[in-house]
This record gives sequence, structure tokens and C-alpha cells, in this order.
Amino acid sequence: MLREINVNGVRFRVADEGHGPPILFVHGFPLDHTMWRAQIDEFSKTHRVIAPDLRGFGGTDGALYSVSMEQFADDLAGLLDALAVEGPVVFCGLSMGGYIAWQFVQRHPARVAKLIVCDTRAAADSPEAAANRLKMADIVLKEGPEVVAWGMMPKLFAPGSSEHCPAVIASVRQTVLNSNPIAIAAAHRGMSVRPDVSSLLPTLRLPTLVLCGVYDAISPPAEMQAIADAIPNAQFALIPNAGHMAPMEQPDAVNAAIRRFLAG
Ligand code: MLT
Repeated sequence: MLREINVNGVRFRVADEGHGPPILFVHGFPLDHTMWRAQIDEFSKTHRVIAPDLRGFGGTDGALYSVSMEQFADDLAGLLDALAVEGPVVFCGLSMGGYIAWQFVQRHPARVAKLIVCDTRAAADSPEAAANRLKMADIVLKEGPEVVAWGMMPKLFAPGSSEHCPAVIASVRQTVLNSNPIAIAAAHRGMSVRPDVSSLLPTLRLPTLVLCGVYDAISPPAEMQAIADAIPNAQFALIPNAGHMAPMEQPDAVNAAIRRFLAG
């Protein structure tokens, strides 16, 4: 069920399906909750699945000049309150959703039972990458989301995915093209100043699943394996025939890895 819910004056659109222990799915940049369709369908059989559109994206309002990963994390805590979610959640974030996860576990530790980070990074942007994001923020406001789709799409998928799942690629492209340029610019600005969380990783005590597409060109397997190695209670799952969008490209393999982790 898609719901609209007011959180501190901002209208959020959120998929809220199923009953049971809560799992929160947090999308990547510049997407919306629809990237998690296969996970929503699978896990709503056994869990309460909550998959919001982040501030400014999809059907959620509240775009700002810049949105920090801390702000996104606090929005999610407010959303869980507004949805009357009791007890801690399994927090599953992809890429930017993972950057938000690192902030969420620090700012709202009592709200997290287990952590799943997919195709994400612990490192901050290099100065060059951060400067490029600020440039892109200005460009997208002038030229629209096509420029983002043009730059990002080639990096998101495994080489075989254009044949194996063309509909997934088309739907991601469409979501990017539908995204609000103000939200894209705001998230770029927020990501450009996100902190390096490498020193956080050894302090985490949460059961954690680190999941990565074997062809991920944005957060490559070796970097994600290093994240798993640094977290004391982490498992690493490498997803064959998948790139950065592993949960969409190989939903069965990703869902099986998540199921094994939840059962463990
Ligand atoms: C994402 O998928 O969320 C982006 O690749 C994150 C980023 O731009 O660093």
C-alpha cells in the first residue's frame, strides 16, 4: 500500500506493506522506492516492509538547497515515528541509502536491529569528486535530469543486464528522468560533504550484511569486502551477474542472501 504521511511538515510517500518485524528499504540516488519492488513483494510476505521516497524524490516533497545524509537519516527516524513502527528495524540501504545508513546507526542506534548495506561506500568523496558533484548540481538545475541519466546509466549495470533485464534498465532511466532537479542538486551537495565513516566500522556491533554486485563499478567488490572485514559482525555476499543495482538486476539472488541473513 502506498501511503502519504506528514513528517515534521513534509509530505512523504511511502510503501508500507505486510505485517511482522519491520524492514526499512532506503533507495539510492536519484531514484525512489520503486527500485525495491522485488524486495517489497518478497519480504512483505513475512515482514512489515517500509520503503519511502526520500526527501524531494518520487512522491515526497521537501526538497532543499542541500540535504545532508544526517538530514535524510533524521527524516527516516521521524517517518518511523509517524508510522508508529515499534521496536528496531532491519535497515537496508543501497548506495546513497547506505551513506544514510551510516548516519542512521549513529544518530538513532536504538532504532536498528540489523543492518544491510548494498553497493555503497564508507569513504568520503575525494576533493575532485566533491567538486564535480557541485558542478553537476548547478548543471542539473539548468539542464534537467537528462544530464544525470546520461552520466550515470552506463555505470549502474552489469555487462549482461541489457539483455537479461532491459525492463529494469528502462525503468531506472525513467525514474532518473522523472526526478526533481532540485532534489538531485540537493542530494549531490549533501553527498559531497558526507563524512568518511571508516573509523565507525570497527565500532559497529550490529549484525550486518554487506552485499555487492560483482560488476559494481561505483562501489567495487574489493572496497565492499574491506567494509565487511572492518565490521566485527558482518557477512559479505557477492551477487553474480549484477552491477551497482544488484537488487533490481538479480532480485532472486539478493532476496535469498537477505533471507539467509535474516534467519541467521
Ligand atoms: C547511488 O547509487 O546512490 C549513487 O551512485 C551514489 C553516489 O553518487 O555516490
